[in-house]
Amino acid sequence: MSDSARQLIEKIDNQTAKVGILGLGYVGLPLSKALLENGFDVIGFDVDHRKIDSIEKGHAYIEHLGQDFFDFLKETKKFTGTSDKADLVEADAILICVPTPLGKHNDPDLSYVLSCTELIREIMRPGQLIALESTTYPGTTRNEMMPILDQSGLTCGEDYFLAYSPEREDPGNAGRSAGEIPKLVGGVDDLSTDIAMKLYDQVVAKAHRVSSAEVAESAKLLENIYRSVNIALVNEMKIVLSDLDIDIWEVVEAAKTKPFGFQAFYPGPGLGGHCIPIDPFYLSWKAREVGHNTRFIELAGEINTSMPKYVVDKVSRALNDDGVAISKANILMLGLAYKKNVDDPRETPAAEIIERLAEMNCTLSYHDPHLPEFPEMRKYDFKMSSVPLTEEAIRKSDCVLVITDHDNVDYGLIAKHAKLVVDTRNALERVPEAERKARIVKA
Ligand SMILES: NC(=O)c1ccc[n+]([C@@H]2O[C@H](COP(=O)([O-])OP(=O)(O)OC[C@H]3O[C@@H](n4cnc5c(N)ncnc54)[C@H](O)[C@@H]3O)[C@@H](O)[C@H]2O)c1
Repeated sequence: MSDSARQLIEKIDNQTAKVGILGLGYVGLPLSKALLENGFDVIGFDVDHRKIDSIEKGHAYIEHLGQDFFDFLKETKKFTGTSDKADLVEADAILICVPTPLGKHNDPDLSYVLSCTELIREIMRPGQLIALESTTYPGTTRNEMMPILDQSGLTCGEDYFLAYSPEREDPGNAGRSAGEIPKLVGGVDDLSTDIAMKLYDQVVAKAHRVSSAEVAESAKLLENIYRSVNIALVNEMKIVLSDLDIDIWEVVEAAKTKPFGFQAFYPGPGLGGHCIPIDPFYLSWKAREVGHNTRFIELAGEINTSMPKYVVDKVSRALNDDGVAISKANILMLGLAYKKNVDDPRETPAAEIIERLAEMNCTLSYHDPHLPEFPEMRKYDFKMSSVPLTEEAIRKSDCVLVITDHDNVDYGLIAKHAKLVVDTRNALERVPEAERKARIVKA
């Protein structure tokens, strides 16, 4: 074993290793929290100066992490927020948590990962562990990152160490912080895996060793494709059962009583977030390289992306039943974030729903306690602000459309005062039946 490896292991073992985090978003910041809680010093690097400013001012830019954490970041000497790459020279381990979106033609866009890798190459020194956390296709760590890092003249497995450890962060799930979720760890060689395991073992509930970076990369994709396919399945069943006048939600609850061989997934208005709508295409792209079509993935994508249209059709028909033309309708949308209890609108199906409804000239407003403004997005810029959820706003609308079922919403008020509720999440089920005065259409 080289001196570089021995010294790095010693620093990790006695927690004097400094850890650099590249990308202080929904993944990098909770990970920083887990590292800080376990005694490590963290150098948080982001190219977005606004994030560094926010941290310096104690402004909580990710709501679910809580103001206390941002107050702590502002005060503690154990965290340095920076946009200066020179600060990363001090880092003994560098963990990369940057976006991995899709390009124009649904191809993987590795530009963020590769620009980070270039940046690391410029500042790297012997005795550093580099680990990629961003979701990606198998082979990225070894075939895309390693050749760039090797250009530094340092040797992987001797001077520096390289691994992949996918992030499984579940934003908004209070019971599962980054440190509580088991993590997969696979290096490009055995020593890289050993060293990465030593670090993650101290930070998360359980670090699970796999034989290579490629296994860890593939396992992450399997996890997210599994979700996408099962959500599509239950969405397809929703469409069929709805026409048979059978409630999909009751059916899922019933099937869930089977203690083996079934895991419950729930229908909804379509996929959102930075993972499930995007990651499956990383495998589809890689599969084409070896001559395969990923039919399950394509089909699931097709069904899930058709959901916003299905919801809008349901709204239109339900209004028609009430004698209201959709072009004259006043629609109050509830919840625009991509899932409940978060302030993240990325890839939210609400955007397509708004676009489709707007094309039909309805009057639209929304209430989302987590999104006071609907921010500009890659494809959309609606310039809308959340309205207060009042009896008047509900009564004034021809339809309340539940898109995301945040917990801190008064569903009782809606059930009491709305004429029509189109509910894509079965949210009104939490109101006792006797108090549901509105006509409720599940979509
Ligand atoms: N959000 C989730 O729930 C989640 C869960 C599991 C895995 N992931 C994966 O984790 C990765 C990161 O996702 P996220 O949700 O944290 O994204 P994010 O957009 O919230 O954060 C990424 C951050 O990286 C910064 N960044 C971009 N280029 C950079 C560079 N060259 N150097 C340093 N910083 C840079 C951005 O400014 C941003 O602050 C993605 O691959 C995603 O698929 C996300």
